[in-house]
Amino acid sequence: MADIPWWARESLWRKMAIWITAIMAVILIFLSFHSVALITAGSARVPAYSVINQRIDYRFDRERNRQQPVIGDPAPLFGRVLSEADAEQLVRRGKLTFQARNCINCHTILGNGAYYAPDLTKAWLDPGWGTEEARERLMKEFLMDPYTNARTFGTGRRMPDLDLTEDEAEALIAFLKWTAAIDTNGFPAAFPTIKQGGGT
Ligand code: HEC
Repeated sequence: MADIPWWARESLWRKMAIWITAIMAVILIFLSFHSVALITAGSARVPAYSVINQRIDYRFDRERNRQQPVIGDPAPLFGRVLSEADAEQLVRRGKLTFQARNCINCHTILGNGAYYAPDLTKAWLDPGWGTEEARERLMKEFLMDPYTNARTFGTGRRMPDLDLTEDEAEALIAFLKWTAAIDTNGFPAAFPTIKQGGGT
C-alpha cells in the first residue's frame, strides 16, 4: 500500500466524490431558489398579474439591442379594473385552460411547445388583430369560433374549434396579455407588432 502515490489512493477519491456531490447539491439548491425568484410574478422581468390593467407596448431598446415590453397607462382588459388577487385568479384560470386544452400541441409559448401554429408569447401584440380598439373583441370571437373568425396569421393553416366558453376565452386573453408583458430578452425575435400608440 505504501507505494501508491497520495493522489491515487482510494480513500482520497472517495472523499472527493462525497465533497463534490455535497458542494454541487448546495449550488443546485441555491440556483433553484435564485431561478424561482427571477420567474415569480411581481419581479423585475415578470410583472405582477395586475399588469393586465395596463397598456402593454413592445419597443426596441437601443441599449439592449432588443425589443422589450413597456408597461403604460391604465387600459383595463374588457373594461374591468381588477385587484391583484382577481387578476391573479383570471390569469391562473387562463393558464390552466391553456394547459387543459393543450394549446402547446400546436403553439409555442415562452419557448415551450410546437411550431405548427404561431408563437403565442406575444400574441396580444399581433398585428393580425387589426387595431387596439378591436383587439379584445376579435381575440374573443376568434378563440370561441376560429373557423368563422379566422384572421390572417400567415400560417395558411386553420385552428380547430375547441369549444371554449366565453369565460375561458377571456381568461386565455388575460393570460396572453400577461405573457406579452414579460421581458423575454427579445424572444421571439423581430416580432412585428400591432400599430402602437405614441410613436415607435
Ligand atoms: C390543432 C392545432 C391548434 C391548437 C390545439 C390550438 N391552436 Fe391556436 N392556432 C392554430 C393555427 C393553425 C393558428 C393560425 C391560424 C391562421 O393562421 O389563420 C392558430 C392561431 C391562434 C391565435 C392567433 C395567433 C396570433 O399570432 O395571435 C391564437 C391567439 C391562438 N391560436 C390561441 C390558441 C389557444 C389559446 C389555444 C388553446 C386553447 C389554441 N390556440 C390551440 C392551431 C391550433
